[in-house]
Amino acid sequence: MCGIFGCICENAVEVLLDGLRRLEYRGYDSVGIALLNNNNILIRKDKGKLEDFLKNLDFESLSGSIGIGHTRWATHGAPSRENAHPHLDCFGRIAVVHNGVLENFLSLREELIERGHKFSSNTDSEIIAHLIEEFVKMGLSLKDALRETINIVKGSIACAIITTLEPGKIFCYRRESPLIVGISRNGTFCSSDMPAIIPYTKNIAIVPEDTIVVIERNGVYSESSSGIERKLEFFETNLDLKSAERGGYPHFMIKEIFEQPRAISDTIKIPEVYLDRASKLLRDRIYLTGSGTSYHACLSTSYMISKILSIEAFPIISSELQEMIPNFDESTLIAVSQSGETADTLNAIRYAKKKNAKIVGITNTLGSSITMLSDAYICTQSGPEIGVAATKTFVTQLIALDLLFLRFGLISRRLNQSDYNKILDEMKKLPKIVEKILNQHQKIKEISLKYSSKQNAFFLARGSNVAIALEGALKLKEISYIHAEGYPAGESKHGPIALVEPGFLCIFIAPKDRTREKIIGNIMEMKARGAEIFSIITEGDEELKEISDSYFEVPQCYELFYPILCTIPLQLFAYYAATFRGFDPDKPRNLAKSVTVI
Ligand code: F6R
Repeated sequence: MCGIFGCICENAVEVLLDGLRRLEYRGYDSVGIALLNNNNILIRKDKGKLEDFLKNLDFESLSGSIGIGHTRWATHGAPSRENAHPHLDCFGRIAVVHNGVLENFLSLREELIERGHKFSSNTDSEIIAHLIEEFVKMGLSLKDALRETINIVKGSIACAIITTLEPGKIFCYRRESPLIVGISRNGTFCSSDMPAIIPYTKNIAIVPEDTIVVIERNGVYSESSSGIERKLEFFETNLDLKSAERGGYPHFMIKEIFEQPRAISDTIKIPEVYLDRASKLLRDRIYLTGSGTSYHACLSTSYMISKILSIEAFPIISSELQEMIPNFDESTLIAVSQSGETADTLNAIRYAKKKNAKIVGITNTLGSSITMLSDAYICTQSGPEIGVAATKTFVTQLIALDLLFLRFGLISRRLNQSDYNKILDEMKKLPKIVEKILNQHQKIKEISLKYSSKQNAFFLARGSNVAIALEGALKLKEISYIHAEGYPAGESKHGPIALVEPGFLCIFIAPKDRTREKIIGNIMEMKARGAEIFSIITEGDEELKEISDSYFEVPQCYELFYPILCTIPLQLFAYYAATFRGFDPDKPRNLAKSVTVI
């Protein structure tokens, strides 16, 4: 769960640090760089965020035109200077940065120690440097030594290596962790993700699974792990740097919340051919899986499928799937993951595949592992999401899933053409409606200020909005650290209500849909115990205004789309609560953007 970056160019120090700043969303508990200088490797690394690292960096003593860098989210070994990457071999001639988890590192480490290797860290990654050292000792070139190493090491790897033994090159390898390469007249680059590279070149290639890449100043050579040349497919990305940076907003999260009308509009335009390819894989039994926010998209969609198509679909949290489903005969697994790299979700896919499932992936990251593991995939069109808390990717997941199942409904004749067209027309109104909600951000900001000193909150809803209650609670707790729980409103009286006393905050998702009447009953139960009621309601719902202490109105819409509309004020509510409480919503503690550990 880290960001790696490498460059061969003028001012490599500046470029490296700039790249690492753009990769910090991948992890930010330690940072480090290695540079080749007069056939020496210079290392600077430390625990903490990049901004602190920069304050203590002795720039004068650093120069070079080849370097690698790393931003870390600890997996093996607590955050510390020793455990920060890059890691060196025993002679300081090979420096490695790594993103991934090495499963068999303990036994390999013991063997290496027996052979006299001295380790400086507790990380799994350090064994890569020592194994390469061993193979180089046997007379292999660096590339061949890397190949031998990756054939021994089990687990996920994206790594970049520099060495005094073959200066002028960066050696990379990718298995299960993302890696891209960029090339321009000004330099060559490798990175975990685009934002680090696109300021320097838009000519990029996504490194395929199980590929070794050797980067030089003027070119790139790549081959499979069995040594067969495998040319990278370069293309011109249309992502501009602006779309990967904050665009004038104080935080990525709020920028991304405000990007939602565009993200929804682009996602609605997913070509039908992708939807058709995926809907043809839908079999009699449908499971949906994801983690965190992506699971909430699965949950909400399962209600939609039952409502619109009258079929059952089963939402399952990815990390639990293996424990619940013994076989997937005649089944399709729809796996949802914005990053496409979440280990729990990838594991669920691998398991379901072994048990005969067809896999449809929904992701925001083209070229991610999920796209490679799926029989068909659909890419949401959010653009990169940098804020750790998922916002725009969640609403585009809902859109993509709705589109998929509407298309399936049409093809399988569960939905007639005129209903299909009607729902699509309603969907096309969403960007404008979401914009209208965003224009009222001042109102939600005031409500958030009013409640930002609360210690606890319940988020309550019924039907497909239950997923939105869970999502609202997750957003609030993960960035503002207010303890928040989402529940089906009907379930709250079976235990949670015991916590309610005067002033306890209850947030109800109560639009004018089929759940409204019952939700009013649930509000009254909480009110009777002195709860403070904040409701998300449909514009002009006077009865709900009357019984709520605070309310936020969303415009009337087609019932299916209320979960999307009601999500927006809850994202803003959480964002403002975090900022009022003095926390950085882009960097919640203990979290990282892409969770590649089980
Ligand atoms: C919450 C959040 C996480 C992710 C989860 C899955 O705001 O972002 O709960 O939703 O880690 O991530 P992906 O969608 O990348 O699989």
